[in-house]
Amino acid sequence: MPYPGRVRTVLVLGSTGSIGTQALEVLAEHPDRFALAGLAAGSRRALAHEQAARFGAEHVAMGIEETVDLVRTVEADVVLNAITGSVGLAATLAALEAGRTLALANKESLVAGGDLVRALAAPGQVVPVDSEHSAIAQALRAGRADEVRRLVLTASGGPFRGRTRDELRDVTPEQALAHPTWDMGLVVTTNSATLVNKGLEVIEAHLLFDVPYERIAVTVHPQSIVHSMVEFVDGATIAQASPPDMRLPIALGLSWPDRVPGVGRPLDWATASAWTFEPLDERAFPAVALAKRVGVAGGTYPAVFNAANEQAVLAFHARRLGYLDILEVVERVVDAHEPAGGPLTLEAVLEAETEARRAADAAIVRAAR
Ligand SMILES: NC(=O)c1ccc[n+]([C@@H]2O[C@H](COP(=O)([O-])OP(=O)(O)OC[C@H]3O[C@@H](n4cnc5c(N)ncnc54)[C@H](OP(=O)(O)O)[C@@H]3O)[C@@H](O)[C@H]2O)c1
Repeated sequence: MPYPGRVRTVLVLGSTGSIGTQALEVLAEHPDRFALAGLAAGSRRALAHEQAARFGAEHVAMGIEETVDLVRTVEADVVLNAITGSVGLAATLAALEAGRTLALANKESLVAGGDLVRALAAPGQVVPVDSEHSAIAQALRAGRADEVRRLVLTASGGPFRGRTRDELRDVTPEQALAHPTWDMGLVVTTNSATLVNKGLEVIEAHLLFDVPYERIAVTVHPQSIVHSMVEFVDGATIAQASPPDMRLPIALGLSWPDRVPGVGRPLDWATASAWTFEPLDERAFPAVALAKRVGVAGGTYPAVFNAANEQAVLAFHARRLGYLDILEVVERVVDAHEPAGGPLTLEAVLEAETEARRAADAAIVRAAR
């Protein structure tokens, strides 16, 4: 049956990446619901132009400055920010300033921007695309905000689940990139292995849903079927479950609050299966605890955490840093951070990030000795 609603026009930022290409698949399969208004990418120019031509979209931006211009000047109902890294912050702010609905995959921009992003966003203007936050948004529909006791984020545990800290010492970049369930970009995949991604998601959950950090929990669920849960005051827990497929939260993010029929496969109850949950080993994976600490500190701390991590991950892939050193470098940089004070501005965030990358580089050199 054709969709009776209006076609939503969409700007896809980060169109050449993992989320971006899956978003374009969703758009291509549902022309009755979505139309591509334009797209933006970083370096893969030929692919971006090919994508635009396929959809008959006129507007293509390359790099963050052109992306921000695109967001400011091209009319669209929804901006999907699927850029990777905190470089996407300027695009997030531009989309909010332009009054667009922001379907947000680029969690790093929310984490780095923190209260700056929150202050600009009207209620409901930011719709999560991250599968965990989409799951929470869906589960929150089951009760009132004052009935929520805890948000419970699920983590697959990554490729190193079950290993002790000592067993993690010599893991290689290749091993870190072998993610069991999701197909993602280099930094995001590495962040899944270190659990930094889960740490960023805890901060993201706090900022999106306004629940204090002590009421945000993480549980390890290797099957990645339950995408997250909300626990209510009466002891009921509402979970959102579906086979791992980002197209479901992408489509819901673009069409929120309407569901897009057929976008994902449902669970198969005719086959035996088991879902397991286990506590996170915080000694082997200290990233979530550190993320909560920087989240509570607020201001420029989360931006520093994320920037230092990006730098350390790149050094790990360049084989200039060991796996366990990634979090040690990040913690050292966070602990040495001296916030400027005053209200959070884009300039303050960018300055803190630059300083964090410089401090991380120095710590990486020291760790390599
Ligand atoms: N992949 C997942 O399953 C998943 C799930 C949940 C959340 N997320 C989040 O979604 C975001 C994207 O992840 P991903 O896995 O799709 O990353 P990815 O595959 O690395 O793709 C990143 C995209 O950002 C573009 N980009 C990079 N720098 C840019 C710049 N300066 N200006 C404009 N565009 C730029 C890239 O363009 P070029 O390739 O052309 O350089 C590419 O299109 C991340 O924030 C991630 O945390 C991802």
